[in-house]
Amino acid sequence: MSTVSLESFRAEIDRLRADATAALDAAGRDDAFEKARIEFLGAKSGRLKAIQKLLGGLAAADRPAGGKHFNEAKEAITAALVQAQSRLAGGVAEVEAIDVTLPGDPVRIGHLHPITQTIRRVQEIMARLGFESVDGPEVEDQWHNFEALAIGAEHPARDPLDNFYLAVARGTDPLLLRSQTSTVQIRVMERRKPPLRIVSLGRVYRPDTADATHYPMFHQVEGLLVEPGTTMAHLKSVLRLFASSFLGGDVHVRFRPSFFPFTEPSVEVDMEWGGRWIEMGGAGMVDPAVLEAVGYDPATVSGFAFGLGVERIAARRYGVADIRDFYKNDVRFLEQF
Ligand code: DAH
Repeated sequence: MSTVSLESFRAEIDRLRADATAALDAAGRDDAFEKARIEFLGAKSGRLKAIQKLLGGLAAADRPAGGKHFNEAKEAITAALVQAQSRLAGGVAEVEAIDVTLPGDPVRIGHLHPITQTIRRVQEIMARLGFESVDGPEVEDQWHNFEALAIGAEHPARDPLDNFYLAVARGTDPLLLRSQTSTVQIRVMERRKPPLRIVSLGRVYRPDTADATHYPMFHQVEGLLVEPGTTMAHLKSVLRLFASSFLGGDVHVRFRPSFFPFTEPSVEVDMEWGGRWIEMGGAGMVDPAVLEAVGYDPATVSGFAFGLGVERIAARRYGVADIRDFYKNDVRFLEQF
């Protein structure tokens, strides 16, 4: 007895085939693929299995034709499944596979800023001459920035237009961003007794308009030596040894008479390198008034001090024409050092 007609069996199979291939073709990388696989091809209750059971309900004469139709549908659905599988696997492989033989993207490695390099180099050279590197604060009081350095209350260097006084401290002793590293001479001498050989490199601030040779923030090298029997000849020798080491070759140092409140005598320091004289800073013998201000006896100790511009010596060494280039953070410029 047949319970299913060949026509309805075929129609059932065609619907299943259409549903299954549509579902498998559309399946993405979510769980849709697995759902479709179970719905249509599940071993226990998949729809293909259910239809296969109907085969037994066909009239015996219809069974070969029905079986053939069923097998074709099963093949088509299985093919759609395999295709979906490889499509999904291929997509995954594309994202996850890493070709370890490809050359990597090089990571750009930076380096120290030319000014930092210069500071370290100066410290290194001065250490060889016995000068210890020390630091001082960038926010200073009047005593260390001016008074102890014999820069009196009426001195034009204290003019508010020439200094960054801090608005937070407008009392009798307003604080300021230090205008020179000579402050560190005082800070060290207040704490220690001679003999002393120190250098201090750091930032100083002045409200200058930025141009090729000025910047409102720049760096200085401060040197101080206090030992019995110190003379200007020692000062010149140290500066010359330093300059020859830093710039390389035989650098000539020239002193021109000058004035600084905290040195006596005072000089401007010029250096000749590659046929050109450049003014590098100031120097002199520490003024007795300064020695007294820190509690030293000027009758028994003497010393020299110098202050040079770090940007100036860096610019000279590296051939930089405009010191503003040091602070633009343009990688094309910085990469050269
Ligand atoms: N502090 C001075 C300035 O900023 C530079 C200087 C001159 C420092 C003479 C010194 C020195 O130690 O002895 O212009």
